[in-house]
Amino acid sequence: MSDDWDAARYDAEQSFVAEYGTALVDLLDPAAGATVLDLGCGTGDLTARLDQRVGEQGRAVGIDQSASMLSRARECHEEPTFLRGDLRALPVEGVDGALSNAALHWVPATDQDGVLAAVADALRPEGRFVAELGGTGNVASVV
Ligand SMILES: C[S@@+](CC[C@H](N)C(=O)[O-])C[C@H]1O[C@@H](n2cnc3c(N)ncnc32)[C@H](O)[C@@H]1O
Repeated sequence: MSDDWDAARYDAEQSFVAEYGTALVDLLDPAAGATVLDLGCGTGDLTARLDQRVGEQGRAVGIDQSASMLSRARECHEEPTFLRGDLRALPVEGVDGALSNAALHWVPATDQDGVLAAVADALRPEGRFVAELGGTGNVASVV
């Protein structure tokens, strides 16, 4: 699995990325007691926010391929579960919801349908998925 992330530098210089993503937590709006995933969780800030939402009866799981990002996530956030894995082969199923912030555009375009299929397989039938990702032209109106 690729691991070219510098987690300390990411938090020092790019913590705004997760801050911008907090709206996704509201959009997903997981119920107390739900089991939810943070896909490409990085250093785990949004996983921790999800964990607060679902409470003690729920479970928030952050999944990322980067050992460096996961190590920092575990240092900074005690409660959520963090798993090393690739978004193309998720190691879970039957979850209530999933979010992904600023991660899916790192997956090669040819593999992105595979990620969506893996997410669909991980969710229970009424499960929900919300995501933000970079894409060609998606800041055109801002520019
Ligand atoms: C820009 S960071 C975003 C981290 C976090 N979601 C946030 O909002 O701060 C992108 C993350 O996606 C992860 N990632 C990229 N491709 C992945 C893949 N195929 N499987 C698992 N994680 C992946 C990277 O390791 C990295 O931690």
